[in-house]
Amino acid sequence: LETRNTEMGQPTTSAADMFKQPFVIGVAGGAASGKTTVCDMIIQQLHDQRVVLVNQDSFYHNLTEEELARVHEYNFDHPDAFDTVKLLSSMEKLRHGQAVDIPNYDFKSYKNNVFPARRVNPSDVIILEGILVFHDPRVRELMNMKIFVDTDADVRLARRIRRDTVEKGRDIATVLDQYSKFVKPAFDDFILPTKKYADIIIPRGGDNHVAIDLIVQHIRTKLGQHDLCKIYPNLYVIHSTFQI
Ligand code: CTP
Repeated sequence: LETRNTEMGQPTTSAADMFKQPFVIGVAGGAASGKTTVCDMIIQQLHDQRVVLVNQDSFYHNLTEEELARVHEYNFDHPDAFDTVKLLSSMEKLRHGQAVDIPNYDFKSYKNNVFPARRVNPSDVIILEGILVFHDPRVRELMNMKIFVDTDADVRLARRIRRDTVEKGRDIATVLDQYSKFVKPAFDDFILPTKKYADIIIPRGGDNHVAIDLIVQHIRTKLGQHDLCKIYPNLYVIHSTFQI
């Protein structure tokens, strides 16, 4: 907890500034693990708070013509597939109370400039969701709480086959090919190693109502302290005792 000293020798509080910022929750986990369901349930249960959801998918790079021509060789599960600089700047703006326009990503055309962009307003809680949101330390540092959704690989694959064939109009051979070539190796090499950064690991994703209830209770407690610190910015003891 950082405090600064004034000329009078009295600490002024940068902690008070910190507590004006929203509570940021990161939700990571393998593709089709149920991250979206977990986020939806948290948002639903926090109905009386201002909550926004930011998806890492919105920050996929647009593909060049050359990459588009050979799209089946493109690795969408590698950290380099995302524009992390843009993600960071959008998150920083939101944390500092500015609205941002977040691109809409179209999985069918592989483009992230689908018009219109989504206007996201600053809120009390920001949930950042995506397969690799724990990968970059700069993104991790923005988070007050990190959740990893841990769902068995066979369940993830079954959901993915259903989703990619039904919603994205892909054929099953292409889905299985992408899974063995990119999705599974990237899960082992990049996603699973970030599980160690999680504060909370949720087995069975959105089916785990007990875990979601506990998480929501914890967020509510933190938001209560957040409000208290906004009203009484000189409550140093509260800051240092309860900081996550
Ligand atoms: N992906 C793809 N085609 C693209 C872009 C991404 O198939 N043009 C795939 C990547 O291969 C990656 C997945 O999308 O595996 C990431 O999205 P995912 O985490 O499955 O989406 P969510 O809906 O957030 O997942 P969940 O079921 O956990 O909510």
